[in-house]
Amino acid sequence: MAPDEKTMRLLENARGSILKGRLPASLIADEALYKLELERVFGRTWQFLCHEDEIPNSGDYVVRYIADNSIIVARQQDMTIRAMSNSCRHRGTLLCRTEAGNESAFQCPYHGWTYRNNGDLIAIPAQQAVYGAAFDKSRLGLRALPMLDSYAGLVFGCVSDEAPGLDEYLGDMRWYLDLMMKKSPAGLEAWGAPQRWVIDANWKTGADNFVGDGYHTVMTHRSMCELGLLPPDNVAVSPAHVSLSGGHGAGVLGAPPGIPAPPYMGYPEEVVSGLSEGYGDDVHGELLKRTMFIHGNVFPNLSFLNAFIAKDGQSMPMPILTLRQWRPLDAARMEVWSWFFVERNAPEEFKQQSFETYVRTFGVGGVFEQDDAEIFQAITKGTRGELAGGVELNLEMGLDNLAPDPTWLGPGRPLASGYAEQNQREYWKQYFDYLATPRRDENV
Ligand code: FES
Ligand code: FE
Repeated sequence: MAPDEKTMRLLENARGSILKGRLPASLIADEALYKLELERVFGRTWQFLCHEDEIPNSGDYVVRYIADNSIIVARQQDMTIRAMSNSCRHRGTLLCRTEAGNESAFQCPYHGWTYRNNGDLIAIPAQQAVYGAAFDKSRLGLRALPMLDSYAGLVFGCVSDEAPGLDEYLGDMRWYLDLMMKKSPAGLEAWGAPQRWVIDANWKTGADNFVGDGYHTVMTHRSMCELGLLPPDNVAVSPAHVSLSGGHGAGVLGAPPGIPAPPYMGYPEEVVSGLSEGYGDDVHGELLKRTMFIHGNVFPNLSFLNAFIAKDGQSMPMPILTLRQWRPLDAARMEVWSWFFVERNAPEEFKQQSFETYVRTFGVGGVFEQDDAEIFQAITKGTRGELAGGVELNLEMGLDNLAPDPTWLGPGRPLASGYAEQNQREYWKQYFDYLATPRRDENV
């Protein structure tokens, strides 16, 4: 679908003004742009599907989504992973109705066509009588995802063949994914099923927040500061606000001045002793040693958080690791998916405590999650209507007054500030570039 002239003009203007820190408010949750997003953003970006540890055994599967595409991701007999459309080739009925399980085949509930877990159509009820023995089933397998690959145990797919290779797509973001996902040579455990919930907010509000918004912490999460569970000021916490090519971004924060904090985010000895082996270098460990909080976003809608945090006023802080995906349902509604991970070789007691801390902070009922969700909904509502939608939002923070930090250990363009909006500007720039560029398969 090619956008109409008015939309194209709006996009071109937005593309020109976003790096100057100006964002048309009406574009946050625009109904007309939503279809274009599905095609030009979700139709050609790598989308997270699952962690390899969620389907460890032959026959294991999970059902996941890329926007409105329902996808079966299944571990094969040879232990490779395949991903295919969860839609029967007879009448399009949704085939697999459970979220996860172990099956060698899937049978359609409408007429009973049956598919092997690699997508091949293997049985049709009454085939001989109604289709004939010579009927060629091989042309009616489930449609495979055109692109499927993994990095650091994270399985990604693309619904077209128009994404660059996954390594190229992730680029320098791999360095920061390594920092979180490769601490232990024993790997990560995907602990339980992902939690998910629906909120009345546009999906980009979550991505914009996680990619670089340290600024909201002491206001939105003020109650946490008052309880002493967050520092009262995040500006001066040995931070880096790092923009990466491809619209990805991360924030890496150290301990606030004067607040005692353990090295390596408080990870247990079992994990810390294997850091060099897990990372394959010493630089990541050197950075982790002085880090308390890592947040960021893989363009367009996969956010992450690795944080040293307490679940309540009585408990000691400890590290948690979560990924979250902002799955669009429509222009003003999204389904949030949230995964919890823990290092496989950590003590069982640590795993349990870390999970509880995640549940109480960033799980579906977690206090931080509740705070953020309310704001994401308020942005979606607050930018609608001719009056509010007709202004430009301000993303000028750190535009001219913050210089890149030459001492930073990782790749990217780091600003030495807990508060900045460089990442958000780069994120939106990438988003507008995708929206304004036709797909190869568009007849424009
Ligand atoms: Fe699936 Fe008919 S729709 S078998
Ligand atoms: Fe928040």
